[in-house]
Amino acid sequence: MLRPLLPESSAYVSEVSDLQGQSGYLRASLNFAILVTRKAVCSCALVILLAGWGACADSSNRSSGDAVSAETAAELALEEAEGGIGPVDSVELDATIDTALVAQGEAIFSMKCGACHKMTERYVGPPLGDVLERRTPEFIMNMMLNPDEMAKKHPEAKALLAEYLTQMPNQNLSQEDARAVLEFLRTSQGDADKATQ
Ligand code: HEC
Repeated sequence: MLRPLLPESSAYVSEVSDLQGQSGYLRASLNFAILVTRKAVCSCALVILLAGWGACADSSNRSSGDAVSAETAAELALEEAEGGIGPVDSVELDATIDTALVAQGEAIFSMKCGACHKMTERYVGPPLGDVLERRTPEFIMNMMLNPDEMAKKHPEAKALLAEYLTQMPNQNLSQEDARAVLEFLRTSQGDADKATQ
């Protein structure tokens, strides 16, 4: 057995080692507490991450052409959900197509839209040949006149942005120009590739 050389100091040593033992215990429990906190933080982060991922997956899964969903209607007033966000509240479509307006719209379309939109194929933006089957006339005009706000606030336009990864730029159309383009888009229904030739 090892005998301490100085008995008085041995008491001191044992006291110190007692203290060390205590602080070791304290340190251990502190470490444990930190570990637990870290774990809690980590799992919180994980939950947030998963929730975020879930939301993303949800929005990219949402088909852009679907009728306005209940979720969409809950986020916006129904008229905004269907009519889009922008200066156009309501559009009257005549039963007959105004050919002079169509010609005007076609010229504007080839100048300001054709670089990104085709009628039957996906291009920089979605095909527009059947857009009137998917959207209301108001939605289409508001998309032409107010694309930035639409892409920021409207769930369907947001979903399009997520899908096409390009923000449609504002083409600075007047309301009359947009109305003419809309008339042209009416003629392309079912006769879609006429516009791209
Ligand atoms: C620089 C490319 C670009 C130009 C130019 C452009 N668009 Fe777009 N457009 C897009 C993209 C990309 C989207 C989808 C993403 C978004 O909403 O920003 C889109 C979306 C749209 C939509 C919504 C389609 C849907 O399925 O709901 C309409 C309508 C539309 N554009 C019409 C037009 C018209 C009309 C013009 C011309 C006045 C035009 N765009 C000019 C790129 C463009």
